[in-house]
Amino acid sequence: MRSKVTIVGAGNVGATLGQRVAERDYADVVLVDVIPDMPQGKALDILESGPVLGFDSLVTGTNSYDETENSDVVAITSGIARKPGMSRDDLIRTNQGIITQVTQEIVKRSPNAILICVTNPLDAMAQLAFKVSGFPRQRVMGQAGVLDTARFRTFIAQELNVSVRDVQAFVLGGHGDTMVPLTRLSTVAGVPLPKLISADRLTQIVQRTRDGGAEIVNLLKQGSAYYAPSASVLQMIDSIILDKKMIMPCAAYLDGEYGVSGLFVGVPVKLGAGGIEEIIQLDLTDDERAMLQKSVDSVRELVGVMGI
Ligand code: NAI
Ligand code: 2OP
Repeated sequence: MRSKVTIVGAGNVGATLGQRVAERDYADVVLVDVIPDMPQGKALDILESGPVLGFDSLVTGTNSYDETENSDVVAITSGIARKPGMSRDDLIRTNQGIITQVTQEIVKRSPNAILICVTNPLDAMAQLAFKVSGFPRQRVMGQAGVLDTARFRTFIAQELNVSVRDVQAFVLGGHGDTMVPLTRLSTVAGVPLPKLISADRLTQIVQRTRDGGAEIVNLLKQGSAYYAPSASVLQMIDSIILDKKMIMPCAAYLDGEYGVSGLFVGVPVKLGAGGIEEIIQLDLTDDERAMLQKSVDSVRELVGVMGI
């Protein structure tokens, strides 16, 4: 039987992800959204690209959850973006309501699914989906680290004029201003980054990575990034559906790892058919640990706003 991937929220990230998953040809795809007819229209459009691109994935759009039954993976991209005049706390509370309702609907029909949260503020929403689902921590995660790391790798490859494939990097912590790009453990063809790029230039690249989401928002004028975000979620789904056991940074519920308990934070994990099969613990320097702690504190503050 084919795998099933449900994507809740058929907006920019969700629909682009739907197209990317369908093109992989390893799973049927269900797109769910509250806007009448919109997910149906996008699903049909993606489906009709199958004969051209050569995939047989079935793509269904819906405003209800019945079609999501027995999904293997569910990516949650539903939510609103911050609008002018809206406070950060207002945004959290609005998306809190959306993620709570969506998670309840999903869990009823797909009790064995693996949940990947994408909606912002990412780490807080992943924490909420974990709480509402009651799933084990292996089966709930958030996407942010793959995207943040992809941005970091892009800038490094540009700086050194090398292939992005030769750049290995890790970004830890929450998806926000306090994320922690690990320059010491990042390499180009095995050579540590600090040996290749001056400290001043690295500081600029790290800052550009931290501001990566805002840079796109400023250019687009409307909405936020979705090509690289959807590609990042796809890499997580690949590793789960194909049981590839790839190691990548994801928001994971920590239970003592990195000295953190009871909180979702971006750390390197091994992703396979069981979801998060291992949390990889890196030896951090005192400086890196201090930066991670700052990020942890800011995630805890966001979670505090939700009162969960
Ligand atoms: P979008 O506005 O294009 O799409 C959001 C969709 O969610 C809309 O189509 C809306 O109708 C739908 N929706 C709202 N309430 C719903 C509900 N109760 N049930 C089902 N669908 C519902 O936004 P976009 O660009 O796709 O971004 C989606 C979310 O992902 C945002 O919160 C954004 O900040 C976040 N994001 C996170 C990233 C990450 O790295 N974690 C990267 C990019 C975006
Ligand atoms: C990003 O980093 C908006 O979280 C989104 O592009």
